Amino acid sequence: MSDICIKDEINRLKKENNIKILAHNYQNYEVQQVADYIGDSFYLSKLATELDCETIVLCGVDFMAETVKILSPDKKVILPVQEATCPMANMIKPEDIVDFKKEHKDFKVVAHVNTSAEVKAVSDICVTSSTAVNIINSLQEENILFVPDINLGNYISKNITNKNIISWNGYCNVHDRVKKEEVIQMKNKFPNAPVLSHPECREEVLAVSDFVGSTSEIIDYANKIDAKEITIGTETGVLHVLRKLNPDKKFRLLSNSLICINMKKTTLEDVYNAMIGKGGKEIELEENVRVKALESLEEMIRLAN
Ligand code: 13P
Ligand code: SF4
Repeated sequence: MSDICIKDEINRLKKENNIKILAHNYQNYEVQQVADYIGDSFYLSKLATELDCETIVLCGVDFMAETVKILSPDKKVILPVQEATCPMANMIKPEDIVDFKKEHKDFKVVAHVNTSAEVKAVSDICVTSSTAVNIINSLQEENILFVPDINLGNYISKNITNKNIISWNGYCNVHDRVKKEEVIQMKNKFPNAPVLSHPECREEVLAVSDFVGSTSEIIDYANKIDAKEITIGTETGVLHVLRKLNPDKKFRLLSNSLICINMKKTTLEDVYNAMIGKGGKEIELEENVRVKALESLEEMIRLAN
């Protein structure tokens, strides 16, 4: 089937079967084109609770689809590509947290939403890149364990100086490999282009960037600033959104290495196959895990508002 035919079929199936397609900002262009909603992790998590549909096809990686299922257990939630995972989320296991808690009873465990349902279930609260600083700032506890991203953890610590924040040593292999020298080179080459970076980049990269934010915060900031050219320090997928919203601005990627192969696994065909029950993975969670993970996510949504 050609791409045009697949898109028509996907749109027909959405109406016929009361399906909504949610896509993360990093998804391939053709997947973004058939999505009903596109956004960052926080937006997609919160949206799931508000949608009135029978099925959600989540185009992203596994923890995102799990998050939607945790928050919307009555909906069928499908991840179109079973292998689309987040290597960073897999760098922390629930037993790591259970062991840490045994030794550190006065610590609150804060989990990045980029974690498995099992990790969320043994954490006290979840955060996303866009909500982490405000939520942790509002917690009463002074001692915090943040998992799993050391770079986001360092960024949080820099912005909250009155707490003792320990970070796990996980990292996003896409953002972590960006170098400070790449920022400096881009700034020398394009001095009028501000550099907008994701907090999963290393501390030294953020220190020489002009703005730090989640994928949607980067998009919002780029939409509103009065700059004709902008350098983007996050995964290449956001460029599709940015170019569509700002046809008069020029966007460049900070580094050619900013490609998340897991986010790029999902194709139009995968979306279509997931909708006709011929592919993908329907998310199923153990109810006791889901209920515990739900507490951490609900706390995040409550404190983010
Ligand atoms: P956002 O919450 O900024 O969309 O981040 C998701 C992610 O996986 C970043 O690498
Ligand atoms: Fe995970 Fe990094 Fe890919 Fe985001 S960009 S899904 S954090 S590997």
